[in-house]
Amino acid sequence: MAHSDSDEGGVRIKRQKVKKTESDPRQNPYLAHMYADETPSGVADGRSAFAGFERHNTTAAQAEKVEDGETNPFTNEPFSSKYFSILKTRRDLPVHAQRDEFLRLYQQSQILVFVGETGSGKTTQIPQFVIWDDLPHTQRKLVACTQPRRVAAMSVAQRVAAEMDVKLGEEVGYSIRFEDMTGPKTFLKYMTDGMLLREAMHDHDLTRYSTIILDEAHERTMATDVLMGLLKEVVQRRPDLKIIIMSATLDAQKFQRYFNDAPLLAVPGRTHPVEIFYTPEPERDYVEAAVRTVLQIHATEPEGDILLFLTGEEEIEDTARKISLEADEMMREADAGPMKVYTLYGSLPPHMQQRIFEPAPAPRRPGGRPGRKCIISTNIAETSLTIDGIVYVVDPGFSKQNIYNPRIRVQSLLVSPISKASAQQRAGRAGRTRPGKCFRLYPESAFKKELIDQTYPEILRSNLSSTVLELKKLGIDDLVHFDLMDPPAPETLMRALEELNYLACLDDEGNLTPLGRLASEFPLDPALAVMLISSPEFYCSNEILSITALLSVPQVFVRPARERKRADEMKNLFAHPDGDHLTMLNVYHAFKSADAQADLRQWCHDHFLSLRSLQSADNVRSQLLRIMEREELEMISTPFEDKKYYENIRRALCAGFFMQVAKKESQGKSQYMTVKDNQNVLLHPSTVLAHDAEWVLYNEFVLTTKNYIRTVTAVKPEWLLDIAPAYYHIPSFENREIKSALLRAAERLSRKEKMRSDSGRRR
Ligand SMILES: Nc1ncnc2c1ncn2[C@@H]1O[C@H](COP(=O)(O)OP(=O)(O)OP(=O)(O)O)[C@@H](O)[C@H]1O
Ligand SMILES: [Mg+2]
Repeated sequence: MAHSDSDEGGVRIKRQKVKKTESDPRQNPYLAHMYADETPSGVADGRSAFAGFERHNTTAAQAEKVEDGETNPFTNEPFSSKYFSILKTRRDLPVHAQRDEFLRLYQQSQILVFVGETGSGKTTQIPQFVIWDDLPHTQRKLVACTQPRRVAAMSVAQRVAAEMDVKLGEEVGYSIRFEDMTGPKTFLKYMTDGMLLREAMHDHDLTRYSTIILDEAHERTMATDVLMGLLKEVVQRRPDLKIIIMSATLDAQKFQRYFNDAPLLAVPGRTHPVEIFYTPEPERDYVEAAVRTVLQIHATEPEGDILLFLTGEEEIEDTARKISLEADEMMREADAGPMKVYTLYGSLPPHMQQRIFEPAPAPRRPGGRPGRKCIISTNIAETSLTIDGIVYVVDPGFSKQNIYNPRIRVQSLLVSPISKASAQQRAGRAGRTRPGKCFRLYPESAFKKELIDQTYPEILRSNLSSTVLELKKLGIDDLVHFDLMDPPAPETLMRALEELNYLACLDDEGNLTPLGRLASEFPLDPALAVMLISSPEFYCSNEILSITALLSVPQVFVRPARERKRADEMKNLFAHPDGDHLTMLNVYHAFKSADAQADLRQWCHDHFLSLRSLQSADNVRSQLLRIMEREELEMISTPFEDKKYYENIRRALCAGFFMQVAKKESQGKSQYMTVKDNQNVLLHPSTVLAHDAEWVLYNEFVLTTKNYIRTVTAVKPEWLLDIAPAYYHIPSFENREIKSALLRAAERLSRKEKMRSDSGRRR
């Protein structure tokens, strides 16, 4: 057993050691793991620096005195010079002027609503103000600060680690899906709201935390809304827990009312002004107008980087190419500075998202026109982020939003006008480290009259089955009386309960079943989780796991506009006549072959596949595999030579997606009708399905001018009747054609079963 190098006499040490092992289980190596999260001796606990600090009774002056000192009380290391230079700018932030006022309110109340303009220092400073008063490290607790987006959680944690002069992942860390950057010493944790919700499933009272800060609450993500409802209950059970609700643009009164008339602190003023410009007339083509505006800024405005908001990956990548080409031409022909274009959207892996923080390019030659970076992003860059160097924001006024129609159970992403709050947040990305400009590509009258004040909460626009499953796992049984800020429509809630019941995640009384409990362990939609959990029964869990991973990442097939024919030929190399899921699986298997692995980049390029998507599928697959192993789900395959290899996979798909099935109509080519919801749909032109399958299962309903179903695989009605008898209860079907086809299938099925039992008897 290791002991400290003390200069005490050997005899005494020996005696002490014996005594300690007897009395102090901490010294027992077999019990040591129980104390693993205790502050190890020798590590700074800052007790001396915090002498005179009384928890929840400190002042700004007390904290500032230690902040201004020479030694970092959290690490016992001397403060670096960078620390002091950042400290100086921090002291100029608007929230700083109200540190004492903040502390008083924080100390007096359990819940506090905090509003401060974009860039005023909420996300970076408030958690630190809290740390110095809450002293979580002395209680073996943590302070959490949630963010709706991964990229924000990561970058803000990094900034605050620098501000506190500690190493990221030690005292200050972050936690996002599939990445935990925290350690045993962490007491300030930035995290996505979804991650905190996941933690709540296993720890209903969130006992690890002494203060929880819900940042960007105005975004009203599903996770934030559910967390708010949950925290409202937790604060009653835990009087020691403090909550702060934060945003630049929220309807403070509504939040105050919801949180039992919690007090409000509003911090006025910003660090740098942002000048707003509007167009005189509405723009007919916002993408074209955006390109024009970016190039004009590059040609005429002084040094400073550009942030352009567009709506989705494809649009962003297209526009990035256009702007790059044009900017290169300007550089060649008009001696403009170099411009580097970065793209940012949710499906990019975190390390790619971090590239937006790279510095702008240098001038082409000494003394030449300065370089610029231009970031083109979805609304994931709309809140929280400080990207040093951004001076110009271009805001066309649109974003993609989820819309859910419970009647036909279709969720779709539609390009929609943003809200005033969003526009304000977007403008707030400029003017953070110096004065900025925001170009809104719509008239001022449109801003005033046409934009709604706040974006509709996600909970009112989404399929709720995942959320309902989460709530059940959180121990909330009475969903109707669970206090959500904006309760969803009863029909949407009913639909979710019904879906979960068909998936056997909830029983007829609405209680969580063992399958439901298991499904909630997976960070997946319930249908996907159920498919995965059922897959060993179909002897294909290895394959279904790969398909699940592939369905969880962006499209693996690349189809550039100019090379469509070649891309389609390449896709056909992998095509399976029975459909797209099997085709994707073929791609994945080829991707894992030695041939492809020898040079992945080249192989993907040659086959018109997205290396990035395949790599993230690989990553998601291993994360999910870990959960499957933990839950002791068997990993098996049908031998590839077996003629049931693909059939088993198709059956397993039905186990999760039996509610997403369409039947071919007798009239009209590739016209299908979805079962039960009776929607007319067409097969998406991208499908490889080689024959006129009577019945298909689909992954996605795409709502454009026509209704398409995308990623489809041929299935048999007998399988559906067999796997999901409750859903395929024939008398409940209204459509006559579908009903009689099911009846015929039922007859075939019972004939077959009879034959089987007859032959069994004969033997
Ligand atoms: N990475 C960074 N590099 C340079 N300065 C930064 C960085 N992060 C923050 N800052 C400075 O700190 C200020 C406050 O940032 P913070 O993220 O705390 O603001 P906020 O009030 O949370 O804004 P928002 O409402 O936009 O989220 C910024 O305006 C900027 O001046
Ligand atoms: Mg913020």
